[in-house]
Amino acid sequence: MYDQRGMSIRPSSRRPAASSSIRRSSRTGAAAQHGRRLAAHAAALIPRTDEPYFVVEIGPGTGAVTDAIQARLPRNGTLIAVERCPLMVEHLHRTRPWLDVIPGDAADLPEILRRYGLSQPNLIISGLPWSLWNAEQQTRTLVALTGSLLPDGVLGAALDACPRPAPADVRFRRQLHQRFQHVRGERLIWLSAPPARWYVAAHPLLDV
Ligand SMILES: C[S@@+](CC[C@H](N)C(=O)[O-])C[C@H]1O[C@@H](n2cnc3c(N)ncnc32)[C@H](O)[C@@H]1O
Repeated sequence: MYDQRGMSIRPSSRRPAASSSIRRSSRTGAAAQHGRRLAAHAAALIPRTDEPYFVVEIGPGTGAVTDAIQARLPRNGTLIAVERCPLMVEHLHRTRPWLDVIPGDAADLPEILRRYGLSQPNLIISGLPWSLWNAEQQTRTLVALTGSLLPDGVLGAALDACPRPAPADVRFRRQLHQRFQHVRGERLIWLSAPPARWYVAAHPLLDV
């Protein structure tokens, strides 16, 4: 993929080797199980359509969810991934040469889309660790994602589902309801640790 200036999004091919910890984590059964279930929820959000359909995956990590999204992508579909960790970017470049990975921060998504001449996405799939973030980071990132989506766009995000949710989880759920017209929490995904709940938020509200 090329940006408006005709520059390749992919950085230099002289990249360092990915760390063994990434290789190990992408092979563990637990991670694979977790990934498979989240991946199924994420991929199910992509409609069967002949229209152009643009998906941004934020925080793809090892790429477990990415593969399911790619497999479900319609003929006129486009997928890009935005990942902050350089080791993960390197891992994704090496293991998934077909994937356009942009190194960057989710909170800069509007600027990233502008820089590469990309349109507003129909769907954003978040692998982001919302539960670990303070209010400021949650808000800044969610505002960036809602401001990037099409008016009828959809955000899919996983969140820890502990019996007594952490304040960060409660805050994030509240923000989803404030910033989207429709929010749906789906079934628990038990095999993740801790169990996760998959959230689908549609129609971003921009004047919040
Ligand atoms: C829980 S992992 C992703 C899980 C992924 N679905 C998988 O199967 O590996 C979270 C990922 O989000 C990335 N990340 C965290 N904060 C980010 C941010 N602000 N912008 C972009 N990526 C971020 C991390 O580097 C990590 O790769």
